[in-house]
Amino acid sequence: MSSTAFTRSDGLIIKEPIVPSVRGATQSFNSHRRNPLALDAGVSVDSISNLNQLLADTLTIRDLYKKHHWQASGETFYMIHLLFDKHAEEQSALADLLAERVQTLGGVSVAMAADVAEATLIPRAPKDRENTRTQIERLLQAHEIILMESRAMARATAISGDLGTNDILVSDVIRGHELQVWFLVEHIQPND
Ligand SMILES: [Fe+2]
Repeated sequence: MSSTAFTRSDGLIIKEPIVPSVRGATQSFNSHRRNPLALDAGVSVDSISNLNQLLADTLTIRDLYKKHHWQASGETFYMIHLLFDKHAEEQSALADLLAERVQTLGGVSVAMAADVAEATLIPRAPKDRENTRTQIERLLQAHEIILMESRAMARATAISGDLGTNDILVSDVIRGHELQVWFLVEHIQPND
């Protein structure tokens, strides 16, 4: 990091904002560091790539939940406002699990919003406020995209032998999403 201070003609000392060094990178995003996990490098590289895709989609659905939490409306406002926030927190915990698995396997986790937006498979939501049914349908679509990809990744890790990643995918990601889908879908079922 570097910063510069200079004195203005009226004597006021101005400190410029800190500018991070461009030479501070310790590992490039697409590289892999082999950690002693008794796992094939190729297996780790495949899992890292899949986990980063899933991480980008998890951060996107988390943000979609936050958007809908803030913009909730209608006669079920209170219930749905709280439910969306609970699911956002659970997605945040999943993102942490996925990002730290990427690092454990020797990769570099995707992190920032602009990079997430480039990578995600979930369609971009409009800036507009939407009614509850549309919000729920949009969330169900995002859940289904994540469920499809995480089941494919779970099958791939079962074959490759990356059972630690497989356990996260099955126990946390797939089961967590299935439960959230149930809580959403009950809101739009006919109840007579
Ligand atoms: Fe809130």
